[in-house]
Amino acid sequence: MNALAARGLRFTYPDGTPALEGIDLTIEMGERVAILGPNGAGKSTLLSLLAGLREPAGGEVSYFGTDEPADELRDRIAHCPQAPADYLFNASVREDLEYGPAQLSIDRRDAEQRVDALAAEFDLESLLEKPPFRLSGGEQRRAALAAALAVEPDLLLLDEPVTDVDAGHRETILDALDARHEAGATIVVSTPDADLVPHVADRVVLLDRTGAVVRDGPVRAVLTDGDILRDVGVSPPQLVDAFQRAGVEDPPLTVEEASERLQDGSRT
Ligand SMILES: Nc1ncnc2c1ncn2[C@@H]1O[C@H](COP(=O)(O)OP(=O)(O)O)[C@@H](O)[C@H]1O
Ligand SMILES: [Mg+2]
Repeated sequence: MNALAARGLRFTYPDGTPALEGIDLTIEMGERVAILGPNGAGKSTLLSLLAGLREPAGGEVSYFGTDEPADELRDRIAHCPQAPADYLFNASVREDLEYGPAQLSIDRRDAEQRVDALAAEFDLESLLEKPPFRLSGGEQRRAALAAALAVEPDLLLLDEPVTDVDAGHRETILDALDARHEAGATIVVSTPDADLVPHVADRVVLLDRTGAVVRDGPVRAVLTDGDILRDVGVSPPQLVDAFQRAGVEDPPLTVEEASERLQDGSRT
């Protein structure tokens, strides 16, 4: 079954800026998909349309093989915007984490347990009583992601989920996404950073500057195609670039993969 199916999605901003030019995208349940593209490609616009937060100028989106609109599926779909402050509007981080479960009338004790677990998972315990606007950018990012996960959604639409986050907390977030993926969630992540993609996705949808899909395929196939990435204004992953320049045809995508290969090589 698919988690979402978008057909012919088009969108133009009120000032006349065309953002998306007819996107067709089907994502199966349990898939991990990265929306990769340069600044201004339309990644954030696409995620907000997929989340049902904007009316498309053309086309439509359906979810989980049903006719239900996104509004009716707030317990199953979570969207975390590029600016995390847009997602944090309560008086304290704790209230922001409690907000989603409260909207869904989840039992109070169950909700408190969820909030405690998320606060521990995202290292937010010392920040729970603070007003979100006093948090640093990276702290806001973690708080917004935790708040999005509090409804235990089946479909996660995450706009640049590790931007502004330090290295340690980046691992925290990647681990949290891995855990949700293992539990069966469908995860869609937008990013301008090809180096992030192998850590969050198995499939990449590459957008160009006009907001059109120019490639949609397995991570390895897309990320090793330096020409098409550079064409749209995205740098290939650094390791891919380095190994390809050295003449390696099947370059590693991540430091972990490179290090494994180098160790294997040094043993032979
Ligand atoms: N509220 C808005 N009004 C007018 N133009 C906008 C607005 N938001 C985004 N845009 C424009 O729409 C295009 C796509 O933006 P966006 O989806 O934010 O791209 P990305 O997330 O890939 O960087 C860009 O040209 C951007 O300048
Ligand atoms: Mg964006």
